[in-house]
Amino acid sequence: MNDRKPLIAGNWKMFKTCSEAIATAKQLAHLIRKNQAVDVMIAPPFIALEKVSEAIKDSHLSLGGQNLFWQSEGAYTGEISANMLTSVGCEYVIIGHSERRQYFGESDATVNRKIRAAVDHHLKPILCIGESEKERESKDTFSVLDKQMKTGLKGFSLDDLTSLIIAYEPVWAIGTGKTATADQAQEVHRFLRSMLATSYGNTLANSIRILYGGSVKPDNISELMAMADVDGALVGGASLDPETFSNIVHFEK
Ligand code: PGA
Repeated sequence: MNDRKPLIAGNWKMFKTCSEAIATAKQLAHLIRKNQAVDVMIAPPFIALEKVSEAIKDSHLSLGGQNLFWQSEGAYTGEISANMLTSVGCEYVIIGHSERRQYFGESDATVNRKIRAAVDHHLKPILCIGESEKERESKDTFSVLDKQMKTGLKGFSLDDLTSLIIAYEPVWAIGTGKTATADQAQEVHRFLRSMLATSYGNTLANSIRILYGGSVKPDNISELMAMADVDGALVGGASLDPETFSNIVHFEK
């Protein structure tokens, strides 16, 4: 047993208009209203954040951004800063999602700067890491994760990392229907927690929530959550429908 409160986070990616996002968020807030044992976060597209924030203000749903840029303001067309996210009610921000790395050129070095901006603005960063199928096949999973973690977290002090959340998302499992088995997830999560313990000590390592992401569904969440080092999930496709997502939030213990 540990005292890490589970976090189930929904990444809506580039889905839903503002009105669709408001309607989904309201339904979800209603469906999960009795479940205080789990933290629940949704990350709608930027354009819907402010309205969704108003729609969920009396619920225990939290809001997150899907990305940010590390500068606080300036001539950076198309970008959104940490203080812009907090100004519309965000508590979390997803950083370094594999789709950002794959399609938008994000690297461990840019991820590091983004986590710094999040920490400085009291946003809880959800650092996404994960290996590709090729890397897993060539048995490079642990070295890839080691590099993503070490570069992503370079220069941070213990105090900086108290609100850090890690999401292990094997790239081959995202949106593919292929989930890592609960044992595969646990093996990696345990490795990540031991890396954190080596760098920052057991107290911090035991308090950081490590989420699993990649084709999480109502029928595989309980098995994943039964693992000692799995503290929640980052859910893409299955977070878009309020009923389905609430079934994930209400996983069986
Ligand atoms: P998925 O996405 O649940 O659709 O596989 C997970 C993610 O990208 O965070």
